Amino acid sequence: MSKTFAILTSGGDSPGMNCAIRAFTRSVIYQGHKVMGIRRGYAGLLDEDIIPLKASSVGNILQRGGTILRSSRCPEFMEEKNRKKAADILKKNKIDGLVVIGGDGSFNGAYKLYSENKTPVIGIPGTIDNDISGTEYTIGHVTAVQTAIEAVDRIRDTAFSHERIFLVEVMGRNSCGLALRVGICTGAEDVLLPDEQVDYKNMISNIERGIARGKNSSIYIVAEGEKAGRSYDIQKTLGEKHKIKAKVCILGHIQRGGSPNAIDRLYASEMGALAANSIINFTEPLVTTYNDGKVGVSPFANCLTKISGKDQRQIELTKMLAI
Ligand code: F6P
Repeated sequence: MSKTFAILTSGGDSPGMNCAIRAFTRSVIYQGHKVMGIRRGYAGLLDEDIIPLKASSVGNILQRGGTILRSSRCPEFMEEKNRKKAADILKKNKIDGLVVIGGDGSFNGAYKLYSENKTPVIGIPGTIDNDISGTEYTIGHVTAVQTAIEAVDRIRDTAFSHERIFLVEVMGRNSCGLALRVGICTGAEDVLLPDEQVDYKNMISNIERGIARGKNSSIYIVAEGEKAGRSYDIQKTLGEKHKIKAKVCILGHIQRGGSPNAIDRLYASEMGALAANSIINFTEPLVTTYNDGKVGVSPFANCLTKISGKDQRQIELTKMLAI
């Protein structure tokens, strides 16, 4: 018997979400079922903003950044009564299961929707932050790292020409993954992690050591932490207390846009297809994951925690390569 399954994207968008939407839609249709797209994440679900998705609806989107379904952050979904409303809307629209592409906040909402209402849910990890427990990979992270690398390479050119110090702030909230990878891939002088006080003494002695060995410019990657703009405080302290001038460049949302790279296209497509099989043959809530070189599935409960991505080996590598 033909069933109907829905898909939505929630939280910050990330390059590759469209690949997953396309793969999910076509895999479900290929197996004789129907697909509905819920627009604007959980907010759209509560507003019943639901559209049919055909094989042709997801044509020519593989290479596009963002999400054709649009996304939102929806604090209302943290309330049980609204999750009940969402479950009722899904039932009313004869939707047999929901696939959620998003980060840990979106996953917590989806898991509660299942626990409280028994709505079948499957998660696909999508966030540039790569900070979800139970999976080594989230859709969009690799492209975001690449985008930031290209930006920092350009900043290096001007930093060299003007003999300047730059603080380049990258996204990722309190997770370190994006910042550390960008730091290593751009040869940054150091990465200022979100959960650590800046060690100005160490920073200044590094700058001085660099100058002594002929380095005329430096790049520090600043992880944004709780609130974007942290770099301005660091710039102020460097200037006022240590008489060191630094320029700030906040990369911001540029990291969330752009065409997904090969890795994100490939794994997002695999995850979309796997999510289709998992919701069609639903037995328990699962999340598509990537671990030890393979795309697979894990129980939903393993993928609900935010991870810090504070990899000691990468921290040491950054320091060692910056001498
Ligand atoms: O989706 C994750 C993320 O891009 C974080 O890296 C960043 O701190 C946050 O979203 C920004 O969110 P918003 O676009 O809602 O300001």
